[in-house]
Amino acid sequence: MSNNLLIGKKGIIFGALDEKSIAWKTALKCHAEGAQIVLSNAPVALRMGEINKLAAACGDAPVIGADVTNMEDLKNLFEKAMEHFGGKIDFILHSIGMSVNVRKGKHYTEMNYEWNQKTLDISAMSLHKVLRTAWDLDALNEWSSVVALTYIAAQRVFPDYNEMADAKSLLESVTRSFGYHYGVKKKVRVNTISQSPTRTTAGSGVKGFDGFINYAAAMSPLGNASGEDCANYCVVMFSDLTKMVTMQNLFHDGGFSFTGVTQEVVEKMEK
Ligand SMILES: NC(=O)c1ccc[n+]([C@@H]2O[C@H](COP(=O)([O-])OP(=O)(O)OC[C@H]3O[C@@H](n4cnc5c(N)ncnc54)[C@H](O)[C@@H]3O)[C@@H](O)[C@H]2O)c1
Repeated sequence: MSNNLLIGKKGIIFGALDEKSIAWKTALKCHAEGAQIVLSNAPVALRMGEINKLAAACGDAPVIGADVTNMEDLKNLFEKAMEHFGGKIDFILHSIGMSVNVRKGKHYTEMNYEWNQKTLDISAMSLHKVLRTAWDLDALNEWSSVVALTYIAAQRVFPDYNEMADAKSLLESVTRSFGYHYGVKKKVRVNTISQSPTRTTAGSGVKGFDGFINYAAAMSPLGNASGEDCANYCVVMFSDLTKMVTMQNLFHDGGFSFTGVTQEVVEKMEK
């Protein structure tokens, strides 16, 4: 069902790898709500070819490759997107994360710092690079909305989340800091959505993910928020209904973040 929330809006969606990706689901919802979109992912991810299916389902949306750590790639992406739209952009989804230390099985206490630099660059400073590119090119309309996806490991310890916890803290900080400057300059708003654990390629890379996701469900009064639910929340954040929300970390987790314990977990502990 469409509510036409994004009629006339134009956006760039980063990070749709396959059908499980939160960005994939968000692209479909944005299209259904009337938006025009441009899809982007790292050139290596585009080679899988999956994204072309999504592009077709989104009214033949252009797919433009960009390694989000590369300023030239980003400049090219924004210039081509504006050319395609015939004007400026109204929303951006940053749905990107990658941990080299997790991927290579390094324990947090034995971190490889070169890998860590790459992790922070891809997963956190890339948001700064995206915003900086848009700023330099004056690519965003007033009241544009930028959303990046994060996880509660930025605030609380989840040991197996490893260096990504630090990356998400940095991502949330960039959101506030750049959000301030972009708000003052152009009324652009920047927020993070802190999503429940979700079965995607990036999510399942976390060690012990099955235990992790089941625990979160048991600790959330509403259960875990799905990728589909997250896509709906992104649509609302891109719409004009949330115009005055900026520099926030918005928990989208069925109540997990403010729950001390649930009856379900107490009963499990008593067994
Ligand atoms: N899945 C979860 O449990 C969960 C929970 C909270 C937050 N998140 C966040 O949601 C976002 C999306 O992840 P997802 O779960 O949909 O997984 P996903 O694996 O489908 O998406 C991650 C994306 O990042 C892209 N990417 C990696 N390196 C890149 C680079 N250098 N340049 C451009 N793109 C690059 C990948 O190609 C991929 O499309 C991430 O920020 C993730 O941390 C996920």
